[in-house]
Amino acid sequence: MVEWTDKERATIQDLFSKIDYDAVGQATLCRCLIVYPWTQRYFAKFGNLYNAAAIMGNADVAKHGSIILHGLDRAMKNMDNIKAAYTDLSTLHSETLHVDPDNFRLLSDCLAIVLAARMGKNFTPEIQATIQKFMAVVVSALGRQYH
Ligand code: HEM
Repeated sequence: MVEWTDKERATIQDLFSKIDYDAVGQATLCRCLIVYPWTQRYFAKFGNLYNAAAIMGNADVAKHGSIILHGLDRAMKNMDNIKAAYTDLSTLHSETLHVDPDNFRLLSDCLAIVLAARMGKNFTPEIQATIQKFMAVVVSALGRQYH
């Protein structure tokens, strides 16, 4: 069971209350698809992603980026039981989508980079550490149903 300090809880709630889900979600998923091109294989149905400009402008990618970010709401709202909150999503990514779980960590790093770029000096070491801890718990929970 993960322990959270009051400060960490407040940091996560504050961050999500201010986040622009659409912009951050799109930028995060785009960055992941561009920097780790093998992740593009999971999104074949979104059309041709093979040049960077197309990825940034692809409406399906933008929409899905927002869906992923909204998917983090369930961790933010269930900080004391993140594992259980992701049982169904873990099963979906594993058994239906066959997404290699290593990709969750890659996406989570992209999110930290996008937030850092947007927040500038407000992205303090404490906030960075809290986001990293939060995403590590999410990544672990999403990987739980893999056998
Ligand atoms: C679908 C969340 C990481 C590939 C979804 C959905 C959510 C979600 C909420 C929609 C589920 C539904 O329709 O019921 C997340 C979260 C992630 C994450 C919170 C990590 C923090 C990834 C990664 C990949 C991926 C890293 C691949 C590189 C997909 C695909 C779909 C999907 C292919 C289905 C898209 C579609 O058919 O429209 N994800 N995801 N996800 N996810 Fe993830």
